[in-house]
Amino acid sequence: MKQGICIAFLLVTLSVFCSFDTTKTRLQKGVTAQDSLKGIDPETGLVIAKDLMLVKAHCTGCHSSKMITQFRATKEGWLDRIRWMQKTQKLWDLGEAEPAILAYLSTYYAPVKSPQRREPLQNIQWYKLD
Ligand code: HEC
Repeated sequence: MKQGICIAFLLVTLSVFCSFDTTKTRLQKGVTAQDSLKGIDPETGLVIAKDLMLVKAHCTGCHSSKMITQFRATKEGWLDRIRWMQKTQKLWDLGEAEPAILAYLSTYYAPVKSPQRREPLQNIQWYKLD
C-alpha cells in the first residue's frame, strides 16, 4: 500500500517536472526555428543580437515583448507602427536609437514566407469561358 502511494507520488513529481521542461523549451509564437539558433533572450523571448538592449529598453515598458515577436514587418512596416504608437499611444521619440531599433526589428522580425502557402500567381492569362 505504502509502495503504491510512493510510486504515485513519484509519477506526479515526474510529470510536473516534465511539463515545466517543455514550456521552457517551447518556441514562442512568431519565433522561427532559425531564430532559435541565434539564441533567445529568456526574459523577453526576443532574438539575442546587437541592439537587443535598446529594444528591451524602449519597447517592453508598455506591453509584452510578444507584441513584437508576434508581429512581422519590413523596415517601413515597423516604422509605420512606431509612428502610430508615437501618435496615439504616447510612445516617446526614439532619437538616435531609432535606426538601430528599426534595423534589429526588420532583421529578426521580418515578414516570413509561409512554407504552407505557395507564392501568389503572377502574369495570369485570363480567358473568357464560353
Ligand atoms: C508608451 C507605451 C509604448 C511603448 C514604449 C511601445 N509601445 Fe508598442 N504599443 C503600445 C500600445 C498601447 C499598443 C496597442 C496595444 C494593444 O492593442 O493592446 C502597442 C502595440 C504595438 C504593436 C502591435 C501593433 C499592431 O498593429 O498590432 C507592436 C508590434 C508594437 N507595439 C511594437 C513596439 C515596439 C517595437 C516598441 C519600441 C520601439 C514599442 N512597441 C514601444 C504602446 C507602446
